[in-house]
Amino acid sequence: MARTSRIPGFYKITVPERRSAVSDVTGIVPSDVERSLEAGGIDADTADKFVENVLGTYALPYGVALNVRVNEHDYVVPMVVEEPSVVAAASNAAKMVRASGGFRAEVDLPLMISQIQLIDVPDQDAAVRDLLAAKAEILALANLAVGGLVARGGGARDLEVRKLGTPEDRMMAVHVIVDCRDAMGANLVNSVAEAVAPRLAQIARCRFGLRILSNLCDKRCVRVMCRVSAAELATEEMEGEEVIDGIVNASRFAELDPYRAATHNKGIMNGIDAVVIATGNDWRAVEAGAHAYAARSGQYSPLATWRREGHMLAGKVELPMALGTVGGTLRVHPAARLSLRMLGIKDAGQLAQVAAAIGLASNLAAVRAMATVGIQRGHMALHARSVAVAAGAVGPMVERVAAMIVEARDVTLEAAKRALDLLDEAGDGARVVED
Ligand code: MEV
Repeated sequence: MARTSRIPGFYKITVPERRSAVSDVTGIVPSDVERSLEAGGIDADTADKFVENVLGTYALPYGVALNVRVNEHDYVVPMVVEEPSVVAAASNAAKMVRASGGFRAEVDLPLMISQIQLIDVPDQDAAVRDLLAAKAEILALANLAVGGLVARGGGARDLEVRKLGTPEDRMMAVHVIVDCRDAMGANLVNSVAEAVAPRLAQIARCRFGLRILSNLCDKRCVRVMCRVSAAELATEEMEGEEVIDGIVNASRFAELDPYRAATHNKGIMNGIDAVVIATGNDWRAVEAGAHAYAARSGQYSPLATWRREGHMLAGKVELPMALGTVGGTLRVHPAARLSLRMLGIKDAGQLAQVAAAIGLASNLAAVRAMATVGIQRGHMALHARSVAVAAGAVGPMVERVAAMIVEARDVTLEAAKRALDLLDEAGDGARVVED
């Protein structure tokens, strides 16, 4: 466990200095950090064992969110993301939340759904009756397919039988509910589906169709709450109370309008996906579950909402989260393993809580920015740095050029080149000199 995730001035120091600061607070030796992140964690030969037709690897930035406190624990949170400002925004929002005690999180048991489609069911009611009567036998069959999981304390827990469409559709779905412990669970749950399907079809006097997990793992949800004071939310231009009203209005907008809810949820997933990727997990699975859950009422809705509580802003997020801390990519990806060590988490549920907290922080940062100065100012400030680099700025000149083009409200390559020319004329040696 990190002793603290407060490292003031972290963004101002160099990459090697940051690695050493993270080593200090997490106890991971610096050479491990270096080695695990070298060339993005894996080389082409290792990548060739992951997927097919490999030509090489594709690296993304690996940063850390700071100031994160969840259920009284401090976390240095690894985030892999290409979008500027996502890491900074999550860290800033986490700092505001930290001032009121941090995030409160709870998580369900790691229950996944193994889905078996039944086709040509002659009598749906009889099938429901007979399948439920055979529950003990089916769960035992399921457990035989995942002996290792059963030995680790997991296994099949329950059976659900669902009639689909009308009796004329002659279709049903059977769910075997499987406790996957610290695994994401896709392989386990797919094995269960394939193992029990023939017996289910026999009992229901029909054929079986698909046998696969459901990514709408709504029995494996995580919930995170936080409260932030008006004083923390205030900006140079706006009173905190006004910011609270703006954020509540932003939440109501998303609650009333699916067009806005989609973007609101995208902002939440900016944070969650970054943690999911950094820890070697399947972000498409998390995305699929999140959006299906957001639409569960029939209207696509925000996963996070905000309300006023006296002089405080209170927010909460809830979504399914199928994450693993064992197996899969983790076995082979050193950077993913480093991420788990950095987090110091003990199980997959704890990882889900931290990922969802980062999602709520990302959402808070986005709605606060939009309710105050607008999103572009912060985005532009960060974008300006990459524009400055693209124009040829190096070292401390990157910040100076970035500041100049933001000040001029002209964050373009041309403006950055002009700024560099000015600094060059002033004899500041601002450009990369190519030989
Ligand atoms: C951009 O990546 C995310 C936002 O659009 C989220 C939002 O609008 O809430 C800023």
